[in-house]
Amino acid sequence: MSLIKMSIIFYTYLILIYFSQISLALDSISQSIPLKDDGNTLVSKDGTFELGFFTPGSNSQKRYLGIWYKKIPIQTVVWVANRVNPINDSSGTLTLNINGNLVLTQNETIVWSTTTKNSLGKKQVNPIAFLLDSGNLVVIDQKEAEKEKKSYFWQSFDFPTDTFLPEMKLGLDFRTGLNRRLTAWKSPNDPSPSDFSFGLVSHNNPDGYMMKGDKIFYRSGPWNGLHSSGSPQVRPNPIYEFRFVFNKDELYYTYSLKNSSVISRLVLNATASVRNRYVWIESAKRWEIYTSVPLDLCDNYAICGAYASCVISDSPVCQCIEGFEAKLPRAWNSMDWSNGCVRKKALRCEDKEKDGFVKLSGVKGPDTTYSWLDERIGLEECRVKCLDNCSCMAYANSDVRGEGSGCALWFGDLIDIRNFAAGGQDLYVRMDASELVEHVNVGSHKKKGVMVAVTVLLAVAALSGILILAWCYRQKSSNNVKDKSEFIINEDQYSGMQVDDGDLPVFNLSTIAKATNNFTVNNKIGEGGFGPVYRGILADEVEIAVKRLSTSSGQGLNEFKNEVKLIAKLQHRNLVKLLGCCLEGEEKMLVYEYMPNSSLDSFIFDKEKSELLDWSKRFDIICGIARGLIYLHQDSRLRIIHRDLKASNVLLDKELNPKISDFGMARIFGGDQKEGNTRRIVGTYGYMAPEYATDGLFSVKSDVFSFGVLLMEIISGKRSRGYYNQDQIHNLIGYAWKLWKEGRAIKLIDKSIEDTCFMSQVLHCIHVSLLCVQQNPEDRPGMSSVILMLVSDFELPEPKQPGFFSKDSSETESSTSKHLLSSTNEITITLLEAR
Ligand SMILES: *[C@@H]1O[C@H](CO)[C@@H](O)[C@H](O)[C@H]1NC(C)=O
Ligand SMILES: *[C@@H]1O[C@H](CO)[C@@H](O)[C@H](O)[C@H]1NC(C)=O
Ligand SMILES: *[C@@H]1O[C@H](CO)[C@@H](O)[C@H](O)[C@H]1NC(C)=O
Ligand SMILES: *[C@@H]1O[C@H](CO)[C@@H](O)[C@H](O)[C@H]1NC(C)=O
Repeated sequence: MSLIKMSIIFYTYLILIYFSQISLALDSISQSIPLKDDGNTLVSKDGTFELGFFTPGSNSQKRYLGIWYKKIPIQTVVWVANRVNPINDSSGTLTLNINGNLVLTQNETIVWSTTTKNSLGKKQVNPIAFLLDSGNLVVIDQKEAEKEKKSYFWQSFDFPTDTFLPEMKLGLDFRTGLNRRLTAWKSPNDPSPSDFSFGLVSHNNPDGYMMKGDKIFYRSGPWNGLHSSGSPQVRPNPIYEFRFVFNKDELYYTYSLKNSSVISRLVLNATASVRNRYVWIESAKRWEIYTSVPLDLCDNYAICGAYASCVISDSPVCQCIEGFEAKLPRAWNSMDWSNGCVRKKALRCEDKEKDGFVKLSGVKGPDTTYSWLDERIGLEECRVKCLDNCSCMAYANSDVRGEGSGCALWFGDLIDIRNFAAGGQDLYVRMDASELVEHVNVGSHKKKGVMVAVTVLLAVAALSGILILAWCYRQKSSNNVKDKSEFIINEDQYSGMQVDDGDLPVFNLSTIAKATNNFTVNNKIGEGGFGPVYRGILADEVEIAVKRLSTSSGQGLNEFKNEVKLIAKLQHRNLVKLLGCCLEGEEKMLVYEYMPNSSLDSFIFDKEKSELLDWSKRFDIICGIARGLIYLHQDSRLRIIHRDLKASNVLLDKELNPKISDFGMARIFGGDQKEGNTRRIVGTYGYMAPEYATDGLFSVKSDVFSFGVLLMEIISGKRSRGYYNQDQIHNLIGYAWKLWKEGRAIKLIDKSIEDTCFMSQVLHCIHVSLLCVQQNPEDRPGMSSVILMLVSDFELPEPKQPGFFSKDSSETESSTSKHLLSSTNEITITLLEAR
């Protein structure tokens, strides 16, 4: 009998040992098997996360129980149990007690423990702790573990530290009173909670607050159906999906990864006072910042005080709303904006019906501490509701998707408004009846507040993209002034120049010859599709670039002159200016302004020089090229299709502003600019739209295609016609498309901009580039849509199959009757047919 008993005990013991090993190798701990600080860890089923003891930073002896990514070589802790109570030796032990609570002890002293709300009482339970593949440490009844819908006794996701992982809910559970918020570590060596935190606040219209101590540091803004009102940069993207839930039971924000092989996390950092989203880049073995808030000065909570809007591109950034003036003008003018603005005319609210509203466009909704929300009513009812209560200061749609729906009201002072160049929303601010009359005539008098100007401009921008382009040049107002002066060509500067017909400058051959040192090789700066280009210096030190046309033009002298005259009239800050021409005997030359920084290809494809173009500069260049193209396509009197847009045809001025060159060449050469003309092909393989390369069909959409290719080159630093041997893909478009389909578009990004870019923005640009290179010209957006897409947050359509040739391209090339090698080894085709 006792022998049987003993053997049972013995076998139980064996089984226990067996299970203890299994447990540790698997992903759970149970009552009888504690986790000790002896090198053992708990690993989630798929090996993503690991739970164990660790020492943070470098010079610390302290031991903490935490969870980190197992497969990532850089220690990245996502959760810490005993944040405030470190263990100072290796005696830490984690046990699961009979009640289902995890208890962390140091030499019998409890350092940390969980408290389950579930009173386990008499219920027969068998608690077990798992580390899930999501990084969630959960305690569960073993019986529950098999169920589809599990209920946990406790889960670490309910007690986040500084990291917001996919599938976590950040926010409140009204039923349990749980408030899941992030609290940053004090320092990289000290995981204890700092006073820097982030969480949702359950105002009538919920908001998100980043706190420093008891002060609001940054505010997310109320959810507007698409994103938090203050985060238009958060938009549909290839990495993750996000969701906001607000009902009687819960208020939370959550996200999930689209491809589980992509690793992303959101972390609050007290040292840098930011909340960063990171994405793990496996090839580079490092974390890359994907998005970050606060973004800029205007994201500082209430920086402009009440009734003022922060406009990052303005100087000063704070501007009273139209109809308001600085409360303390002196302080305001010395950049102390904290007192904000007050109404010029007090609201009397005598006759409520007569009050009205001024619409602010493109803003972040004000602080919602005193607010009201009804998702069922629309804008008109919303307006009536606001009018009805004298303390209602503003209203807006609570959901801006589509036509807009729902109603949000604000009571009391309007605080923390900012303006966005793109992705902001409309807000209607209450005005006294008497103020409104004046506003009708607002166009005629000088405005102090910038808001009406902003409103008007934004309305215009919606049509023309003007403001959005201005946004590309934000923080550059000083450059703008300089650039403008470049437009003003003082014609007296050019010696040896005659003015033909009053508007076409014609240079003497002797002048040009002298300027270019008789066209010496030393002065040659390039070889384009139409002939060599020389640098020259006129007698008065003015630098010029001279294009000596080698291809005989198919038209007479007068026709030629007329075309040059027309092209010379195209003036835009993103076009190289044609100064004049030189015609003598057989010689035909075009004289351009000289661009000291050469062409874009000499930067982006050069290992060292590419470092000079960080992401924001590249983005400016992209916008500039787009703007130049829009001008050519639709804004100039002539409708010019470039037909040979490429990196070597984008020149850079002193400040590295882009200027498109070689436009209008088809006209100068007597080509017809009518769309669909198939008489000649001028272009460069790798940039040419398929319908143009194969059938000679060109249109503004074939330029869009070339722009898309150029965009990819700027982002990737790779030539469109390199060889991407792996997988037999022969050009950049094919490579980009493949990566995109696999959800790995990040791999396209040039190493030299990885540090300076916001990945979400770059990915958005890659998305736009793929839309530009779609096979079917009708699917490609026009250039004015392209610029809007580039700078805004609209959800973009999925790109369709791009048009690109891979193997047959060399065939097409050899059939070209005439081709000229440019200095950059690109092949420009100029195919002239007999007329
Ligand atoms: C642990 O506790 C025992 C008994 O209370 C004591 O003798 C021992 O010194 C303690 N060890 C440490 C490392 O504190
Ligand atoms: C916070 O950011 C700083 C600098 O960006 C970094 O050095 C530090 O490690 C981060 N802190 C934590 C706790 O990760
Ligand atoms: C106006 O709205 C405020 C805030 O909701 C409320 O406290 C007040 O009673 C309302 N006044 C009237 C007259 O309805
Ligand atoms: C996820 O990404 C991997 C490579 O990173 C890729 O092989 C896989 O096809 C992707 N899965 C989906 C569903 O896109």
